[in-house]
Amino acid sequence: MKILITGGTGYIGSHAALALLLAGYDIVVLDNLSNSSSRSLDQINKITGRRPIFFEGDITDSTLLSKLFSLYSFDAVLHFAGLKAIGESVAQPLNYYQNNVNGSLLLFQAMANAGVSTLVFSSSATVYGEPEQMPISESCNLRPTNPYGRTKLMIEDILCDLARSDSRWRIAILRYFNPVGAHESGLIGEDPKGIPNNLLPYIAQVAVRKLPELKIFGNDYLTFDGTGIRDYIHVMDLVEGHLFALKALQRLSGVNIWNLGSGVGYSVLDMIKCFEDVSGISIPYRITSRRPGDIPICYADPSKAQRELGWKATRSQYEMIRDLLLWQQMNPNGYQT
Ligand code: NAD
Ligand code: WQD
Repeated sequence: MKILITGGTGYIGSHAALALLLAGYDIVVLDNLSNSSSRSLDQINKITGRRPIFFEGDITDSTLLSKLFSLYSFDAVLHFAGLKAIGESVAQPLNYYQNNVNGSLLLFQAMANAGVSTLVFSSSATVYGEPEQMPISESCNLRPTNPYGRTKLMIEDILCDLARSDSRWRIAILRYFNPVGAHESGLIGEDPKGIPNNLLPYIAQVAVRKLPELKIFGNDYLTFDGTGIRDYIHVMDLVEGHLFALKALQRLSGVNIWNLGSGVGYSVLDMIKCFEDVSGISIPYRITSRRPGDIPICYADPSKAQRELGWKATRSQYEMIRDLLLWQQMNPNGYQT
């Protein structure tokens, strides 16, 4: 099977490219490198002995898209390309709507023109906004609180309309919780530009002394230790969920929505403690005020994915941190190393 992966040099896309290659798929990667490096593909080559075919380009470039779809006969598209920083989306909403929503529209149009109707789309738990119940199931209300989250919900709505208009579409919408960690080789991983926004990459940079200390955003939440609780999922578990979704789309048509999370919540202090235990490195931290927009608790009910896909996350908190640490120590400056 031949798969187009948009955003395939990025954090999750590169791990998906690796998992698909190892599973015997042929892949073509399209990425504009706005938040990634093509060195991830060299590293994939080191692990698998195969370098994905790569096009440096933009999903908003419909000429390039129609060229790609005429060059290759794709069986499916895995659509990871997008901008993902919440704060930046508040400051530059038009950029986010243009890139994420318009880019996706042009991609779906190119797929329709080429008769490719199997799609796996990277959505996010951020579409739930302030959840009304815990754990969060797929039927919970959707009310994202920032432009990034609204781009994801708009794309989900577009996909539902598309599937209603034409029964040939086979679509998986995967709502990721908090992907962390790296492939166990330490050769590919998350390579944030500048100071990381997310907890685990930040801790990893404190561990290698690139950053002096972690700021914990609030310890006065109504949680067991006062810090925020999230559902961290190993990136390899996450991308394996995509393989299960692709297989399921051979029998399921229309739009199918699955949460991809572990179903377990850990607090910020839990993650620091585990990081210290795994690494033997102490992580200096300071309690600061809450980060605007943060919610106290967020974890998935992943039972629908388990029931319908036969998938569940199996890697432990220990493995998430061990693999992140290996990547960070082998590549202290990410792909610049
Ligand atoms: P990432 O930034 O590492 O990867 C996204 C890739 O898309 C990058 O390589 C970037 O260069 C590329 N890209 C962006 N706009 C593009 C465009 N117009 N044309 C072509 N390429 C473009 O991010 P990631 O963490 O790998 O996220 C992948 C997907 O998963 C995104 O859609 C993101 O919104 C979603 N997601 C991520 C998380 C997370 O915490 N990492 C959680 C939920 C959902
Ligand atoms: C986790 C916890 C913070 C950094 C975001 C997006 C979500 C998804 C994943 C894309 C929270 C605390 C963090 C720090 C801290 N992305 N924290 N100090 O906010 O759950 O999710 O990324 O779709 O949509 O919202 O992840 O890793 O930023 O934060 O104390 O320096 O760590 O307050 O409790 P979040 P995160």
